Amino acid sequence: MSLGFETKYIWHNGELVPWNDAKVHVMTNGLHYGTGAFEGIRAYWNGSQLYVFRLRDHIARFMNSLKIYGYGIDYTPEELRKAVVETLRANELRTDVYIRPIAFKGYGPIGLDVRKLRTEVFIVAMPYGRYFEKEGISVIVSSWRRIDKRALPVTAKATGHYANSVLAKLEALTRGYDDAILLNDEGHVCEGTGENIMMVKSGVVYTPPISDGILDGITRRTIMELSKEIGVDIREQSIERSQLYTADELFFVGTAAEVTPILRVDDRQIGDGKVGPTAKMIKEHYQKIARGEVKEHLDWLEPVW
Ligand SMILES: Cc1ncc(COP(=O)(O)O)c(C=O)c1O
Repeated sequence: MSLGFETKYIWHNGELVPWNDAKVHVMTNGLHYGTGAFEGIRAYWNGSQLYVFRLRDHIARFMNSLKIYGYGIDYTPEELRKAVVETLRANELRTDVYIRPIAFKGYGPIGLDVRKLRTEVFIVAMPYGRYFEKEGISVIVSSWRRIDKRALPVTAKATGHYANSVLAKLEALTRGYDDAILLNDEGHVCEGTGENIMMVKSGVVYTPPISDGILDGITRRTIMELSKEIGVDIREQSIERSQLYTADELFFVGTAAEVTPILRVDDRQIGDGKVGPTAKMIKEHYQKIARGEVKEHLDWLEPVW
């Protein structure tokens, strides 16, 4: 089968296998029970070098996700970082790329005892452009709440958690919107279906704290650091739903979404309905860093070639 995004090789348990051979059996535990974890990483091509963005941090979060669930893995962070670079090289990628490391409980009998099951590890890399086609998007506040941290460890980027995101995303898309914002059980703004959120009000950028049950996004962390460097006041603070409607600017931040302005929420125009100056400035700076144009941040980049 070919849908146009395929590359030559996928890394599977230490070996590069042809794309079409990277398969699992229907009795794979992770398929039934969501027993897995994954990462989404980008690599940026600047015309002469391919840089993997914050690879070390993504692999660290991957290991933590598995640790939180108590799933063992046969590889060290160092081995996984090398495997990512090896996969990019084997596929001769010289363009913008999305990388998907995924680990899940493998072949086994029906049931929830995963202790004896192997943790399968795959790394897929493919050319990738924009996540949202549009410059600015229209979103709803989902009728679904974000999974509560008392029910699932939301700091883990676990496969099973994404059933919640898919529900909210489908709700938004079927109603004609681009994405959804989820609130937590207390009614505070949490995050998007696959992105963290930032709000600008009177010159200050606000983003919900980790304690509100969000994923500890690497893009969010990056933007908190770079905002300080470019003189933008950024604060972690809970946000109420009604504050979204009167924000000067709103934007999603995430590996896939990068920095994506939100121009409408629940059919209300945000600010003047156009991409705002803060989002624009942060987006431009983020892009420069990712492509290796800011020498102070070369330590965030892993060169491939
Ligand atoms: C639910 C959720 N929140 C936030 C993010 C943003 O995280 P990151 O910036 O590490 O990609 C993601 C994407 O991984 C996500 O799936």
